[in-house]
Amino acid sequence: MNVLEVESVVKEYRIPGQPPIRVLDGVSFAVASGEHVAVTGRSGAGKTTLLNILGGLDRPTSGSVKCMVNAGFVFQSFRLMPELTVLENVILPSMAGTAASRVVRASDRAKALLDKVGLADRAHHLPAELSGGEQQRVALARALMCEPEIIFADEPTGNLDAMTGAEILKLLMGFGGKPFALVMVTHSAEAAAQCDRTLHLENGRLAPFMV
Ligand SMILES: Nc1ncnc2c1ncn2[C@@H]1O[C@H](COP(=O)(O)OP(=O)(O)OP(=O)(O)O)[C@@H](O)[C@H]1O
Ligand SMILES: [Mg+2]
Repeated sequence: MNVLEVESVVKEYRIPGQPPIRVLDGVSFAVASGEHVAVTGRSGAGKTTLLNILGGLDRPTSGSVKCMVNAGFVFQSFRLMPELTVLENVILPSMAGTAASRVVRASDRAKALLDKVGLADRAHHLPAELSGGEQQRVALARALMCEPEIIFADEPTGNLDAMTGAEILKLLMGFGGKPFALVMVTHSAEAAAQCDRTLHLENGRLAPFMV
């Protein structure tokens, strides 16, 4: 079963008075349930643009994206709420229309996730008091909060040292938890090698991946 189907996606950025910039030029692929896909390509190739479109955060100029399941998102720039504590940031996605009794359970789950990413002792800090890599780990805990069946992650190990990166990769691969599909933008060959396949973005299209 596919959890994501991407068909002929084109994305153009239009700046008034200038010719449109075509960043994605007909991208098609599908992701099966539980499948892990790496997206590679040079800086500016359109990886973040593609991921934002896959996650419904941006619209394609043409083409279609069908995501059939609940998704979680790990942003390249974290996008934590600066005025909320680490714990509150992780709980936030589970809060919409929530009864008080569920908030207690959500808080327990958020604490367990913070423990998993090695930040249990930072639960009551503000994001600004954390390093880049720590903020990235909070963003991962937040993405896992609603038990997604697919995670979109934009360079999730980009700010981490090798050992922390390996720990985070384990979590992203669903190690020790409920399995989920993953679309992960990465510059790391090591991270890509842990995925089932790699899609390489070049000149707005998916090129066959060459080692
Ligand atoms: N809102 C925008 N308006 C105009 N151009 C944009 C906009 N957003 C992105 N671009 C351009 O689209 C191209 C792709 O950007 P994108 O952020 O998707 O690259 P990327 O592959 O994620 O790069 P990196 O590896 O550096 O994160 C870049 O040339 C960028 O300048
Ligand atoms: Mg990017």
